[in-house]
Amino acid sequence: MKIPDGQLSLTLNTGDTIPQLGLGVFKVDDDVCEQLVLDALEVGYRHIDTAMIYRNEAAVGRALAASGIARDEIFVTTKLWNSDQGTENTPVALQTSLELLGLDYVDLYLIHWPAPLRDDYVATWLALEELHAQGLAKAIGVSNFEPEHLEKIMEAGSITPAINQVELHPAFQQRTPRAFQEPLGIITEAWGPLGQGKYELSELPGLVELAKAKGRSIQQIVLRWHLQEGVVVFPKTARKERLVENLSVFDFDLTAEEMDIVAAMDINKRVGTHPDDGNW
Ligand SMILES: NC(=O)c1ccc[n+]([C@@H]2O[C@H](COP(=O)([O-])OP(=O)(O)OC[C@H]3O[C@@H](n4cnc5c(N)ncnc54)[C@H](OP(=O)(O)O)[C@@H]3O)[C@@H](O)[C@H]2O)c1
Repeated sequence: MKIPDGQLSLTLNTGDTIPQLGLGVFKVDDDVCEQLVLDALEVGYRHIDTAMIYRNEAAVGRALAASGIARDEIFVTTKLWNSDQGTENTPVALQTSLELLGLDYVDLYLIHWPAPLRDDYVATWLALEELHAQGLAKAIGVSNFEPEHLEKIMEAGSITPAINQVELHPAFQQRTPRAFQEPLGIITEAWGPLGQGKYELSELPGLVELAKAKGRSIQQIVLRWHLQEGVVVFPKTARKERLVENLSVFDFDLTAEEMDIVAAMDINKRVGTHPDDGNW
């Protein structure tokens, strides 16, 4: 797809490009989501991350339609919810998401959680491979998969996931799983890139000083760090001024020393659910 001037992108293992920064719409109610996505598109976002379980795919779809922006200029991700896993349910779930989104295809379709107690994620992956072959999902991937889950789907399937979307922020940097997946060409997406607001970023050692030195907000420093780490990010905000702030991270760099300051903030602090426990 065409990446907006000045923004960064990564190349997926399908050969397609993905804007490295987008908007996540978790916990954005359907009634405000349409305007928020329209605002985001207006200020330059071209990548939206939603999911069936967010219950706002219809609002995202209305915004995409109302924006008038060409389909191939917007990267849309949605995710398959746990209760839709399995050979029979998976194609029905994607069809429902496509109808809600008003799209013929998604750019990326993810298995939201491995939900290991359901023991269905391998069959689900094979179903995603089929949906990819049908052109309904340009790229397929997973979310919240640990290396052992990735190994199982790659052993059974014939496609390497394009993406693994995992919790990742300065206090939880996921170095070990990333060292497994990234050499396989699996791009890491960071969910909760700002720690979901569940801890004070300002308490991370050195972050306030770094932001001051760079003349940026602490959130912009964290987002820039993600970009230079080579991961994809889609911070969520419901506020228009923060949409602009979060997108304004393409015009400065962190030096190697500054990247090291953020790397040193990793204290293995998970703020969300462990993948083995996401069996809802
Ligand atoms: N795959 C998964 O299991 C999974 C799980 C969680 C999330 N995700 C995806 O990842 C996306 C991002 O993660 P997230 O929404 O959980 O958390 P997040 O982006 O780390 O944090 C969102 C919080 O940060 C605040 N915020 C955003 N920009 C800010 C700024 N510039 N200054 C100060 N505060 C700011 C937001 O408040 P305001 O809205 O008030 O600005 C909100 O409270 C989600 O929207 C979703 O698309 C995926």
